[in-house]
Amino acid sequence: MKTVAVVVGSVREGSLNQQLGRALAKLAAGKLAFRFLKIDDLPMYNDDLWKNPPEAVTRFKRELEAADAALLLTPEYNRSTSPLLKNAIDWGSRPYGKSSWMHKPTAIAGASPGAIGTAAGQAHVRTAASAAGALLMSQPELYFSARPGLIDADDAITDEGTRKFLQGYVDALAAHIDRLVR
Ligand code: FNR
Repeated sequence: MKTVAVVVGSVREGSLNQQLGRALAKLAAGKLAFRFLKIDDLPMYNDDLWKNPPEAVTRFKRELEAADAALLLTPEYNRSTSPLLKNAIDWGSRPYGKSSWMHKPTAIAGASPGAIGTAAGQAHVRTAASAAGALLMSQPELYFSARPGLIDADDAITDEGTRKFLQGYVDALAAHIDRLVR
């Protein structure tokens, strides 16, 4: 089964994006294996650290490279992405010429309580991930406008229309990966 490295730009307890990631993992079960990567122990990006790279950095790059694909889930902070996610994208993109994102089939999605469901934040992730070499899934887009109860305590989607849409998103990601990875 193809593996997807899930990188979530929020690690707070009760994160809507972590919850969306778990719901998508559930919908992908049997088709794609989701692996949630740890990014909150990555230091703030500093080129000098490459002289003696922290274990968190080498682990993150190794895990990202081992996955067939990536899924980036971003919160929207001030109409951009979170520093946590941008930092992970930047670490993965270096050293120059050794980007772990290079040619990686990658999808971008995000959840917020706002009406535009991270549309503005995702645009920034798209720019950075594309610059790092990821092969982005352009359609469908997933701007998840979260409301209480839409995802239940077992990470199941309670609204049928939303569940079908998210299932279609996961299926499109699987097809995107199949097109690019043998
Ligand atoms: C936000 N939030 C937010 N929401 C939004 O839709 N557009 C925005 O520009 C912002 N800006 C913003 C800035 C900062 C610094 C914070 C902390 C929050 C609200 C945000 O969508 C909400 O807190 C989400 O719940 C964050 O995602 P997680 O942590 O639930 O995954």
